[in-house]
Amino acid sequence: MNISENKVIDESIQGQALVLDTVKTGGKKLFLESYGCQMNFSDSEIVASILIDKGYTTTQNFEEADVIFVNTCAIREGAESKVRNRLNDFKRVKAKNPKALVGVLGCMAERLKHQFLEQEKLVDIVVGPDAYRDLPNLLDQAEEGHRAINVILSKEETYADLTPVRLGSNGVTAFISITRGCDNMCSFCVVPFTRGRERSRDPESIINEAKDLFARGYREVTLLGQNVDSYLYSGGGLKKETLTEEQKANSVTFAQLLEKVALIHPDLRVRFSTSHPKDMNDEVLHTMAKHENICNNIHLPVQSGNSRVLEMMNRGYTREWYMSRINAIRNILPDCGISTDIITGFCSETEEEHLETLSLMEFVQYDFAYMFMYSERPKTLAERKYEDNVPEPVKKRRLQEVVDLQRKLSGIRTEKGLGKVHRVLAEGFSKKSDDMLMGRNSQNSVVVFPKENYKKGDYVNVMVTECTSSTLIGKVIGKEETGQ
Ligand code: SAH
Ligand code: SF4
Ligand code: F3S
Repeated sequence: MNISENKVIDESIQGQALVLDTVKTGGKKLFLESYGCQMNFSDSEIVASILIDKGYTTTQNFEEADVIFVNTCAIREGAESKVRNRLNDFKRVKAKNPKALVGVLGCMAERLKHQFLEQEKLVDIVVGPDAYRDLPNLLDQAEEGHRAINVILSKEETYADLTPVRLGSNGVTAFISITRGCDNMCSFCVVPFTRGRERSRDPESIINEAKDLFARGYREVTLLGQNVDSYLYSGGGLKKETLTEEQKANSVTFAQLLEKVALIHPDLRVRFSTSHPKDMNDEVLHTMAKHENICNNIHLPVQSGNSRVLEMMNRGYTREWYMSRINAIRNILPDCGISTDIITGFCSETEEEHLETLSLMEFVQYDFAYMFMYSERPKTLAERKYEDNVPEPVKKRRLQEVVDLQRKLSGIRTEKGLGKVHRVLAEGFSKKSDDMLMGRNSQNSVVVFPKENYKKGDYVNVMVTECTSSTLIGKVIGKEETGQ
């Protein structure tokens, strides 16, 4: 899901029906809709790969589906209500075709477990993020009239040996999961409960997936993890927390993995998300500086600009530490785009503390941000320890201030791009016109330009002459055949 504008993501998280780009006929029809983060969309490609292996095809129309799967997100209350509303739409299908099966996958399935089957009578199957290999078996059970559930979390599962089928793909950019789960326990966050312990995927399987994508014409991969900087692969089923110093020294770090992927081909761009301020080290920044095809863009969620709030959030860094990481980026990668996530109105956040978030935003001059109001999640540390005591109108007003400031900062950023030449990888038609193509520069800003004879997958140099707060607009002044 490439989102190009600064977003307030709340109830607006959109489900996206994902289908294969090649049409296959015959077989049972699967309707698969995904919500939430890129990781979930990536998981849907694993789910599709498992079911297509079993003879299923995909459809964009849930009314004609034999199996309806919704891959869910639990990050905020709004994300969950959206899914509950959506389940009502699926009732129509059951009324017409009682044999149709409805399954809830992903983080909300993991959070609610059996409760889901009790609350939502029409749901036949509930599957957590680590149990997708069990889907064929669960579908068999459901077809026999039993309600089927598997929400077991794993310490090992990375789906490393499965080749995801690319759904709704532009054929140019793709996502590759490198870690699953999260060990951080930020106090506001439900992810450690829904996705379990952090584990790193075998680097060889990551490289092979990237090589295969490149051979099939893809020109950009984004390495995905909740905290990519803590990637560490030791092989032999060894767990990070029990490694000796010697084993650690023989393990593959994130910086090393990044380099391996960058070396596949100079025409394969590499991006990654998400970086964690407490773990992002200079080695990663130097690796980025060394390889032209590693894009100059870092998503470094800050959440709050105040050290007391950060401490309560259990983020593991202070305002000063975060600022020093920003200074390191600016020193080593002067041209780097920086984006972030911000939460407003976390438990007991004062007006002064909120102002510190605004001043930190000014300090960093973010290119882009995802901005949210705090939403209390059951079972999290914050829910158990702190009172959700910032009134909703205050949370909302603070969010609006953050959004307004970010709009200004994004505008400054895009204006700086005016009159300059940007190297852009064309991804497809622009949203507004088939005469225009869109792509991104290294910093991840969207660039729109007349199509002429260019096509997706081309690297082009665009002279930017106009801009909005989120988009650069210009004209190609040359195409490059090779090299980044
Ligand atoms: N692993 C990433 C974040 C994953 S969740 C990281 O550590 O940065 C994506 C974003 O959702 C978070 O960065 C946070 O800004 C937001 N978020 C998570 N839990 C939230 C909650 N309870 N209320 C509001 N926003 C939340
Ligand atoms: Fe959630 Fe924190 Fe893990 Fe990100 S690092 S997924 S915010 S617990
Ligand atoms: Fe949502 Fe789960 Fe991602 S809770 S944000 S889909 S990891």
